[in-house]
Amino acid sequence: MTGARAAVDGTPTEAAPHGPATENTHDWHRISTPASSVGAWLPEGALGSALADGLARVEEALATAVGSEHPFVREAAGHLMSAGGKRFRPMLTLLAAQLGDPRAVGVTEAAVVCELTHLATLYHDDVMDEASVRRGAPSANSRWSNSIAILTGDLLFARASDLLADLGPEAVRIQAQTFERLVTGQIRETVGPQPGDDPVDHYLEVLADKTGSLVATSARFGASFAGVEEPLVVALTAFGEEVGVAFQLSDDLLDIVSQGGESGKSPGTDLREGIATLPALFALAGDDPADARLRELVGRPVTDDGEHAEALQLLRSSQALVRANDVLAQYADRARARLDAVPPGDVRDALSALCDYVVTRTS
Ligand code: IPE
Ligand code: IPE
Ligand code: MG
Ligand code: MG
Repeated sequence: MTGARAAVDGTPTEAAPHGPATENTHDWHRISTPASSVGAWLPEGALGSALADGLARVEEALATAVGSEHPFVREAAGHLMSAGGKRFRPMLTLLAAQLGDPRAVGVTEAAVVCELTHLATLYHDDVMDEASVRRGAPSANSRWSNSIAILTGDLLFARASDLLADLGPEAVRIQAQTFERLVTGQIRETVGPQPGDDPVDHYLEVLADKTGSLVATSARFGASFAGVEEPLVVALTAFGEEVGVAFQLSDDLLDIVSQGGESGKSPGTDLREGIATLPALFALAGDDPADARLRELVGRPVTDDGEHAEALQLLRSSQALVRANDVLAQYADRARARLDAVPPGDVRDALSALCDYVVTRTS
């Protein structure tokens, strides 16, 4: 019998991260509220408190959104939400909303839609990447099976659509277009650059589509539901897109440089899957004799444990990694430049701190 079947049959698993459903009749389908680990970039003081209040509302709505009357579905759908995560996208929604009326109708729901969309893609991405760990917990595919992970991701997309229906047709369309870009990025990453494509351009386009798109929409939703005027919404959307690319770039660098389990994921997954991220692309494009062995290793999936350790070691001390860090800093600078359109104050400072955070988290 497969692990998935055993779990569906109701066998409790060791890694169960959360408690039973509440007894409240209105909340019968909810799971217990999770602890999230928001980023070090978040402000303190009045803005910090306002964001913490906003996040509490988001967590409440998120817990409801991943609930189900069926115990196994509830467990699977709540698995990654309960495991933690930085809540980067909903925090950006809440922060952008601080430039208008942060308590306006739709702000919390839009933040939840962004996190649900992200969560769903994590379930699917871990199937694609054969990842065994996510948010410091077993990935859904390793805990149950690929089928359960895919279907649970689909369920979360359905829940996001349900919430979107109340946010109106424009929000539905924006999320649909965002999701299209995100999936297009994942498809293009999977098939790799096509003949005639520049591999670095292809890589950066994939990052913009698979990650920049949803981060941009997170900022856009927050600002527009809070009633921020259109030119500022446009600037915040552009900010989200660029900081999103920087965020993904730093995630790819962390996959190489993070030593322990601090990322909550297994380092070196990209290498194992044969996904050439920026340092590998720079090494492959160069002709530095010092990188000859690296070029031999990173042009294909590195599945042998010895070779995998060797490739990681070589990448960590390579010039290619230094160059990739420079590109990350450029994206963070470009995002910061978009903040010229934001009125001076604590929200702009917090958004600027986010730009610093995406760069410093890899060092
Ligand atoms: C992981 O996103 C996938 C990327 C797009 C880099 P996060 O780093 O935001 O993951 P969580 O939400 O904190 O787990
Ligand atoms: C994840 O990309 C992007 C999306 C889920 C859309 P990655 O595969 O690079 O992210 P991690 O490292 O698994 O979080
Ligand atoms: Mg992945
Ligand atoms: Mg992936």
